[in-house]
Amino acid sequence: MTTERSLILFKPDCIQRRLAGQLLSRIENKGMKVVGLKMLQVTAELAREHYAEHVEKPFYPLLEEFITAGPVIALVVEGPEAISVMRALMGPTNGRDAAPGTIRGDYGASRQMNLIHGSDGPEAAAREIDIYFTAEELCDYTPTLTEWVCADDEM
Ligand code: RTP
Ligand code: MG
Repeated sequence: MTTERSLILFKPDCIQRRLAGQLLSRIENKGMKVVGLKMLQVTAELAREHYAEHVEKPFYPLLEEFITAGPVIALVVEGPEAISVMRALMGPTNGRDAAPGTIRGDYGASRQMNLIHGSDGPEAAAREIDIYFTAEELCDYTPTLTEWVCADDEM
């Protein structure tokens, strides 16, 4: 089992709809550890850096407009296989395809306004964490409940 870190964004629709607390609860309830958290306004330049793989795609102008339309909350989440665990918790991109029980399935029915971003692999996670956080902004700590959340051989 690999302990991983994933870069999570609560997108502008999540903040505007005042769902940040509910989404954070889901991440905490899953047993993931939050090691970084801040609110910020994504600029066009930052959007292009984050979504570099999509910049040339036809939907990119609308994606940039959306992700810069209001503040986001950026988090770094840590845990066993945190990247795939978070993607499963989020559900697929399009809220209309996302199963009930997932964040995108429970809170939306849109492909663009899908509330949350999560890194899609270890390389993306490392790149994205570096874009949004300095090393000093990430907290290294051991939650007191750790031994009740996962067995030693799972961490
Ligand atoms: P994200 O990167 O935000 O976590 O979402 P994702 O991996 O599930 O989806 P991705 O393919 O990386 O797309 C990034 C975001 O672009 C918007 N999108 N629009 N109009 C379209 O065809 C389209 N496709 C993607 C969505 O907001 C998606 O989350
Ligand atoms: Mg993506």
